[in-house]
Amino acid sequence: MGTPAESPEPSATGEWRLPPPGGRTWPTFKRLFIGYVLPYWPAGLVAGLAMLTLAGTQTSVVALIRPLLDEGFVEQDAATIRYYALLLIGFITFQGVVQFTANYLMTWVGRQLIKRLRLDVHERLLVMPNRVFDQFASGRLISSLTYEAEQVAGAVTRAMLSLVRDTARVLFLIGYMTYLSPWLTLIVLGILPLVGGIIAYITKRFRKISKRIHRAVGGVGSVAEESVHGYQVIKAFGQAERERARFERVNEQNRRQFMKFLATKYASVPLIRLIAGLALALVIYLVTVDALVETITIGTFVSFASALLLLNAPLKSLVSINATIQKGLAAAQGVFQVIDAPRETDAGTRPLETAEGRVAMHGLRFAYDGQREVLRGIDLTAQPGEVIALVGPSGGGKTTLVSLLPRFYEPTAGEIRLDGVPLPEYRLADLRRQITMVGQSVMLFNGSVADNIRYGAREQVSDERVREAAAAANALEFIEALPHGLETRVGEDGVLLSGGQRQRVAIARAVLKDAPILILDEATSALDTESERRIQSALEQLMRDRTSFIIAHRLSTVENADRIVFLDQGEVVEQGTHHELLAHNGRYAGLYSMQFAGPTAAPQDEAER
Ligand SMILES: Nc1ncnc2c1ncn2[C@@H]1O[C@H](COP(=O)(O)OP(=O)(O)OP(=O)(O)O)[C@@H](O)[C@H]1O
Ligand SMILES: [Mg+2]
Repeated sequence: MGTPAESPEPSATGEWRLPPPGGRTWPTFKRLFIGYVLPYWPAGLVAGLAMLTLAGTQTSVVALIRPLLDEGFVEQDAATIRYYALLLIGFITFQGVVQFTANYLMTWVGRQLIKRLRLDVHERLLVMPNRVFDQFASGRLISSLTYEAEQVAGAVTRAMLSLVRDTARVLFLIGYMTYLSPWLTLIVLGILPLVGGIIAYITKRFRKISKRIHRAVGGVGSVAEESVHGYQVIKAFGQAERERARFERVNEQNRRQFMKFLATKYASVPLIRLIAGLALALVIYLVTVDALVETITIGTFVSFASALLLLNAPLKSLVSINATIQKGLAAAQGVFQVIDAPRETDAGTRPLETAEGRVAMHGLRFAYDGQREVLRGIDLTAQPGEVIALVGPSGGGKTTLVSLLPRFYEPTAGEIRLDGVPLPEYRLADLRRQITMVGQSVMLFNGSVADNIRYGAREQVSDERVREAAAAANALEFIEALPHGLETRVGEDGVLLSGGQRQRVAIARAVLKDAPILILDEATSALDTESERRIQSALEQLMRDRTSFIIAHRLSTVENADRIVFLDQGEVVEQGTHHELLAHNGRYAGLYSMQFAGPTAAPQDEAER
C-alpha cells in the first residue's frame, strides 16, 4: 500500500514510452539468472548432481554390454549372465530414483520462478500509472502474466536440464568410446561435425517454416476471437458472410502451412536417420580394416555402436538449446518490460485523515500524449460542500479533468490544491481515500452484489449498512428480486446485471465509501427517467456536505448544482448557476433549449412510436 517513494525506481514524472521489443539478451539472461534462479541454488545444485549421476549410469549400462557379451555369452558362462541380469535391475531402479529427483527439483525451481515472475508483474500492475496502462495493450499485460511467464520458466528448466545432463552424457559417452577404441573414436569425431552440420541445416529450414505456421495459427485465433466477442455486432450488421469468408481464408492458410510443416518434419526424420545410418555403416566398415580387426571383440564393438547411437539424442538437444534459450529470453524481456514500467509517484509525506474538501485548480493544462492539449488552462475552485456540474460536448475534457483529482494523471502545467495544499504533497493513499468516484463505465468484480457494494468501504461493514446503501441507491428493489438477493453472484464484470442495475450498485458502493469529495461521471446515464428521478434525491443526500463534481449530458440532473461549468475543447467557456447561464443565453442556454421545450425535442417522441 502506501510505501512512500522507493527511490531509484523510474518514476511517473518525465515521459515514459513503451520500449520497442527486442534488445540485448545478455543483461536479460543475467537478471533472470541472478534474480530468479540463483535464490533456489540448493535445489538446482542437487538437481544438477542428480543429472550428472543419471548421465553416468547411462554410460555404465552401455559399458555393461561388453563384459556381458564377452565374458557371459562368448564364454557361455551362465552365472555371469545371471549376475548381469540382476545388476541391470539394480541399475534401472537407481536410475529411476535419480531421474525422479532431477525432474522433480528442476520443475520445482521452474514453478517457483513462474510464481515469482507473476508476483512481480502483478505487483507492478497495482501501482502502474494510468498513462502507462494506456500504452500497453491489455492483452499484452495479461499474456505477460500467463503465457510469457510460463515460457520463461519452461525455457530455463529445459535449458538447464539440457546443458547439464546432455553435456555430461556426451562427455561420458565419448570418454568411454575413447577408452574402448581411440582410433575408431577419432574417426567418428571426424565425421560427426559433418553429420551435425547436415542435421543442423535441416532443422533450421524446419524451424523457418514452423515460424511461418505460428503466424497462420495466430490468424485463426484472432479471427475466432473477434467472432466470439463481436457476435452481436456481426449479427446486427449482417456481416456473417464476410466473417465466414475471412475465417475460411485464415483457416485454409492454417491447414496449408500445417501440411508443409508436417511434410518437412516427416521428410526430415528419415533423412536424419539415413545420415546417421551412413555414419554407423562407415564405422562398421572400418572395423574390418586389418589394423583394427584384431583388437576389437564382439562386446567392444556392440558397446561402441550402442554408445554411438546413444550420442544422437543429447547432441540433438544441445544443438537446439540455443533456440530454446532465445525464445525464453524473448519472453523474459516482455515480462521485464512490464516489471520495469514506472510506478506512480508517491513522494508526498503529508498525512490526511479527512479533508474539508476545498478544491482549487490553477492554470491546469494536460495532454495525454504530451502534445495535443486536452485541458488548456483551467481555473476552477470549489468550496467545501459545493456542487459543481461539468457539462459540455463529448470529448470536451470533463472526464479528463476529474481524473486529475485522484492523480490518475499528472497535469503538464498548473496545479490542483486540496485544502490549500498541492496534491502531490499528500500521501497518495490518503488523497484517494478522500475521493469517491462513480465513473462512466462501471467495473464490477466477480462476486456477490454485497461484495461489490462493500468494495469501497474501509472497514468491515454490516449487512444492515450494505442494505441501507443499496436502498439509498434505489437498488434494493431489484436486488431483492434477484434469486439470492444481496448474495447473488453478478458474473464476470457483472454481466448478469443490466446497465442501469450496474450503475445503481456502483452508487451504493459510493454511498458506503463516505468520502468528502464526490465525483459522478455520467453516473445515472443508463437509468430511465423514472429511476433517475428517484435516485436523484438519494444523490442529493449523498452530495450534502461533500464537494461534488457532477458530469452529465442530461441537463435536468444538474439544474440544482451550485455552479455549472461549461467545458469545450479543454477550456471553461462559461460558468454560473442554472438561471444565470440561461439569462446569459450562451452555449449552456443553447444546449438546454435543445434538450427541453424547443421544437427540436420532437425526435425524442419519435422513439416511442
Ligand atoms: N486515455 C486516453 N488517452 C489518450 N487520449 C484520451 C484518453 N482519454 C481521453 N482522451 C482524449 O481526450 C479528450 C477528452 O476526453 P474526455 O474523456 O475527457 O472527454 P469528455 O468530456 O469526458 O467526453 P464524454 O462526454 O464523451 O465523456 C478526447 O479528445 C479524447 O480523445
Ligand atoms: Mg467523459
